[in-house]
Amino acid sequence: MTDETLSNLLHENRRFAPPPELAAHANVTADAYAEAAADPEGFWERAAERLTWERRWDRVLDWDQPPFAKWFLGGTLNAAYNCVDRHVENGLGDRVALHWVGEPADDTRDLTYADLKDEVSRAANTLLALGVGDGDRVAIYLPMIPEAVVAMLACARIGAIHTVVFGGFSAEALASRIEDCEAKLVITADGGYRRGAPSSLKPAVDDAVEIAARAGHEVPHVLVVRRTGQDVAWHERDVWWHETVDTASATHTPQAFDAEHPLFVMYTSGTTGRPKGILHTTGGYLTQASWTHWAVFDLKADTDVYWCSADIGWITGHSYIVYGPLANGVTQVMYEGTPDFPERGRWWQIIAEKKVSIFYTAPTAIRSFMKQGREIPDRSDLSSIRLLGSVGEPINPEAYVWYRDVIGGGKVPVVDTWWQTETGAILISPLPGVTSGKPGSAMTALPGIGADVVDDAGTPVPNGSGGYLVLTRPWPSMLRTIWGDDERYVDTYWSRFKEQGYYFAGDGAKKDEDGDIWLLGRVDDVMNVSGHRLSTTEIESALVSHPKVAEAAVVGASDETTGQAVVAYVILREEAGDGGPEVVQELSAHVRTQIGPIAKPRQIMIVPELPKTRSGKIMRRLLRDVAEQRAVGDVTTLADSAIMELIAAGKAQST
Ligand code: PRX
Repeated sequence: MTDETLSNLLHENRRFAPPPELAAHANVTADAYAEAAADPEGFWERAAERLTWERRWDRVLDWDQPPFAKWFLGGTLNAAYNCVDRHVENGLGDRVALHWVGEPADDTRDLTYADLKDEVSRAANTLLALGVGDGDRVAIYLPMIPEAVVAMLACARIGAIHTVVFGGFSAEALASRIEDCEAKLVITADGGYRRGAPSSLKPAVDDAVEIAARAGHEVPHVLVVRRTGQDVAWHERDVWWHETVDTASATHTPQAFDAEHPLFVMYTSGTTGRPKGILHTTGGYLTQASWTHWAVFDLKADTDVYWCSADIGWITGHSYIVYGPLANGVTQVMYEGTPDFPERGRWWQIIAEKKVSIFYTAPTAIRSFMKQGREIPDRSDLSSIRLLGSVGEPINPEAYVWYRDVIGGGKVPVVDTWWQTETGAILISPLPGVTSGKPGSAMTALPGIGADVVDDAGTPVPNGSGGYLVLTRPWPSMLRTIWGDDERYVDTYWSRFKEQGYYFAGDGAKKDEDGDIWLLGRVDDVMNVSGHRLSTTEIESALVSHPKVAEAAVVGASDETTGQAVVAYVILREEAGDGGPEVVQELSAHVRTQIGPIAKPRQIMIVPELPKTRSGKIMRRLLRDVAEQRAVGDVTTLADSAIMELIAAGKAQST
């Protein structure tokens, strides 16, 4: 973000007070901040009471060996029971849990909480029959179909640990995740629908399982949902969902697990080439996912229809499609396809048809709708909407105001929610019945959360200044570690401000004159493309693994629609020649196979050299200047200052 944008942001002085009607009946009032500040553990203890525990905890927080936290010690519960069975037992079995909308028109399915209980029980019995049990890992690689939710909850029900891999990742990326957590089962589908055509998933799983086998990890079974009916290759290890789950018993008694029993591992990009398996456990995670979903969206489970447009393959789908909303017993929409198929107004038609009252999406989507113009949403009746949410990247004030005006009819609160895969749940956000929102600001830490902006030395900056975002206290849904790598957990998050004991989020932030927080993007080598987190190093490693590449540097350049876009600078090996459009295409395809379509560079530039300091460090800042077509900044620390001219000249060769 440039200094100019930053100062524009901070001169943003529009304020939107909570609608009086909403404020009068809000789930959470201003008192919550004071209550939580006086006794954070007591505050989270009350939040935990919203769940059903088999055994109550003896102690709320064990922070005796920081940064390894334990919450709700001695407590036992079952996450799937909390998300499904207890609602049925409370007489809500007939309530629709999922209004599922497939991409092909008229392909819809409604599942009540009673249906979900049967499905999850059948799937749990099937997993047990396939030899999966307590503590085993299960990889899930599915499109946005109800079976994805069922599969996750079936794992939770039997104490198996799921790791959901987004369908946009390649076989290679899937294989590395399967290997890292030693998955015993992969659940997938023949394919899914994407822009009107079936797109396959099973072949990637076949390849991934073989790659893992070559690396020494055998996956005994693959469970396959038939979604598109396309032809698939079949192996001895494969079993069909409809031949096993559909015929299994719908009776399964959930067992309670320890509050600290691992619930799932979610892989995310860091600053090295290897994705990190972020481990979340049961009691604290479910407490905070459910409390924040209720508080931040002011959820009225009896009357609201909620829709979060994220994919289940990301943390947002975990916390705000599966665990938060289902623990709260609300009716929600789940949509399989892209926003613009078969036409650009598809989302708005779904909102009108299902009378969605709370809608949660990402700034990148909002910006692309803005580009298309308001005529499209204006064709649908969006009057059911009473609250809007944003997540994944900073929302620029223009997008915020457009969202509020065009989608929210100019009257509903917009909650800009800051959090991460690691935090498990929302930590910084307005409370819709309390906070007067400022477009572009995530405002303040939620009750029970300690957040601050500090300088290099870890000292809180005064209002009006910027620095690093830190979390000053443990919170229930915090990651517990990186799967199999405690040391990396400590190094990545807790060593930067070790002395203060702060969690380093990796985001830059600024406190305005009122002390409200503005997020300014990552301060490390992590990019945010369409709200998806990608690592520059990971893409560089993928490029360098191509035989024609000698060296590569990747930067995230700002992009009007996607927030950031991947721009790669590549030095070819001598034998590869000068490179031409075919080589660029080949490299782009290589990144797709190594990581997946989401990592595909917007531009690949073949260059003769990379700008390096005298100690050999690549100066990405300068490459970003070129990618963003700015005058190149200070080059005095370069070992060879003529290089930037050479690079600017090499710009023509791009995808
Ligand atoms: O840079 C922040 C940005 O997304 C990062 C976390 O990415 P991920 O783990 O993939 O989780 C995304 C969904 C929670 C953060 O470090 N980010 C997330 N929400 C916001 C945000 N940046 C600004 N404003 C937000 N509301």
